[in-house]
Amino acid sequence: MNKIIADHEIVNIHYPVEGNYIIQLKSPVNIPPVKPGNFAEIHISNSPEIFLRRPLSILDIDYEKKLISFYVKIIGKGTKRLGENNVGDKVNIIYPLGNSFNIPDNVKKVLIVGGGSGIAPFILLGKELKKKNIHTTFLLGGRSKKDILLTEKFSKYGEVLVTTEDGSLGEKGMVTDHSIFKPDNLDFDKIYTCGPNAMMKAIGKIAVSKNIDCEVSLENMMACGFGVCLCCVTETQEGNKRVCKEGPVFNVNYLKWQT
Ligand SMILES: Cc1cc2nc3c(=O)[nH]c(=O)nc-3n(C[C@H](O)[C@H](O)[C@H](O)COP(=O)(O)OP(=O)(O)OC[C@H]3O[C@@H](n4cnc5c(N)ncnc54)[C@H](O)[C@@H]3O)c2cc1C
Ligand code: FES
Repeated sequence: MNKIIADHEIVNIHYPVEGNYIIQLKSPVNIPPVKPGNFAEIHISNSPEIFLRRPLSILDIDYEKKLISFYVKIIGKGTKRLGENNVGDKVNIIYPLGNSFNIPDNVKKVLIVGGGSGIAPFILLGKELKKKNIHTTFLLGGRSKKDILLTEKFSKYGEVLVTTEDGSLGEKGMVTDHSIFKPDNLDFDKIYTCGPNAMMKAIGKIAVSKNIDCEVSLENMMACGFGVCLCCVTETQEGNKRVCKEGPVFNVNYLKWQT
């Protein structure tokens, strides 16, 4: 897979809600093919004391205009400082990294479940599924309606369902409480999910119990981001695997946390 490591210029940065921003960068060269699930390692250039790059899923790409964008939830110093940059500033990024979601030929109907910043890899996946004429349902979960972002963008690629814990948008409750998980409604060939570990484990458990193929995109903490430091490993049926290299996408049946 061709990779880019280059300074990209910030062409847009906006905060749809406090604590969350979308940052769009212009590449100085043609963007190599990016697959849904790939991520980038971002250097926090405006903060010299943060020397480790931060991993972010690739939200969207415009190959013609050489634009790449990310959806970022502020968690700590790195994500906060990145969001303090201005249009015109440069950010050094390496991508595309990691593996990608699998779309088997026999899949006709899929459910995508995203929680928090875990929605980020699913715009590219939605685009790919639409190209293949696969019926897609997005289920987005958050604490309240301010956590539910990009619904308009997702609706271009499929049906959008929402849950919020406080009931301010969509069905009230945890994402796994949504009526789509009632046995009569759970009619999917495949489930993809990304978000907090507890959410992914719960979704994975439902998928396994219903014999539905399920892939999760893990967001383990990373250091090097390219397979050397081993700080991102996850336990699988074949021993420890690096989330940055063999992942971040894994089949739930392959992960040890399902057993
Ligand atoms: C493959 C991959 C894709 C990702 N995609 C996105 C994305 O598209 N958008 C997005 O907003 N975030 C994404 N993340 C998570 C993001 O990388 C972290 O939130 C970020 O690195 C935190 O950096 P920080 O300097 O702000 O926080 P730090 O100062 O490093 O950490 C602050 C606190 O958060 C905890 N923490 C840090 N990283 C994580 C993590 N990954 N999971 C749980 N707790 C953590 C730390 O233990 C610490 O307590 C992704 C992570 C991975 C591995
Ligand atoms: S982050 Fe270093 S091996 Fe994965």
